[in-house]
Amino acid sequence: MGGWGAELSGVERTALVTLYLRALESRSKDSILRDHAASEAVRRIGDDLGLGSLKMRLTAGDRYLVVLRARQFDLWAKAFLARHHDAVVVQLGCGLDSRASRLNVPAGVPWFDVDLPEVAALRRELFPDREGHRTIGASVTESQWWEEIPWDRPVLAIAEGLLMYLPEPEVRRLLERLTDRFTTGSLLFDGAAPWVVWVSNRLPRIYGEFTMQWATRDAREVERWIPRLRCVEEIALLAQHAVIPSRLHRHLYQALGLIPPLRDELRLFRFEF
Ligand SMILES: C[S@@+](CC[C@H](N)C(=O)[O-])C[C@H]1O[C@@H](n2cnc3c(N)ncnc32)[C@H](O)[C@@H]1O
Repeated sequence: MGGWGAELSGVERTALVTLYLRALESRSKDSILRDHAASEAVRRIGDDLGLGSLKMRLTAGDRYLVVLRARQFDLWAKAFLARHHDAVVVQLGCGLDSRASRLNVPAGVPWFDVDLPEVAALRRELFPDREGHRTIGASVTESQWWEEIPWDRPVLAIAEGLLMYLPEPEVRRLLERLTDRFTTGSLLFDGAAPWVVWVSNRLPRIYGEFTMQWATRDAREVERWIPRLRCVEEIALLAQHAVIPSRLHRHLYQALGLIPPLRDELRLFRFEF
């Protein structure tokens, strides 16, 4: 475990995978994300926390799945913050993401990163809280931590790589809490297709024990749960292949995107309310 205090287990370990993939991509000369904070965090962790393992290195080919998702959420977040200078941002299941520094968010926009306590502790070691930016160690399914978030601003809620790990009733309750608490805002999340959840739970786990739970069948389902939420944009992740600089990966993602079930394996949603 090296000098790091955190003991990540189960689903918490997925935060290391996405961090590693963003860092890896950010080190290439034609990087899409240029996530220097991720790259620096991975340099500091070194071979600790399993980051030096062969298993982790084998995930390298998947880096564009994570990078294309982060890029699209960055674009949506930037557009929201340009429209709402008085916004508050809540990242649900933030892991070790460094979006606030990628977007260079002004200190006047309060930013809250929420993840399970062990992940939050590691996060504070790697990215110490700064003015206007706070890490909260709690489950997103709990209700108390919401009290810390100013409710009288337009909210940008980002759940990137999170909701598939929660049972459906918890997803629903989380979205109800969000929309009950704020008058207006935007919700960004990605949803895994039902076959992905099914297959994923039958494959041997590489990074620790966890199950995928919620499959996103249709944005309309979420609108039926909470009529105030309107889906205003929906993008198949693989449809974004044109921005990939590596020709090999671009063609591979393009070819996979021609097969409808594969194209829809992960979709990105932008809701407003
Ligand atoms: C795939 S990672 C994504 C992390 C980050 N959003 C990113 O894109 O790098 C999933 C994250 O969800 C977090 N998570 C899972 N269940 C959670 C819960 N009930 N409450 C808070 N965080 C949770 C995990 O700890 C992990 O950090």
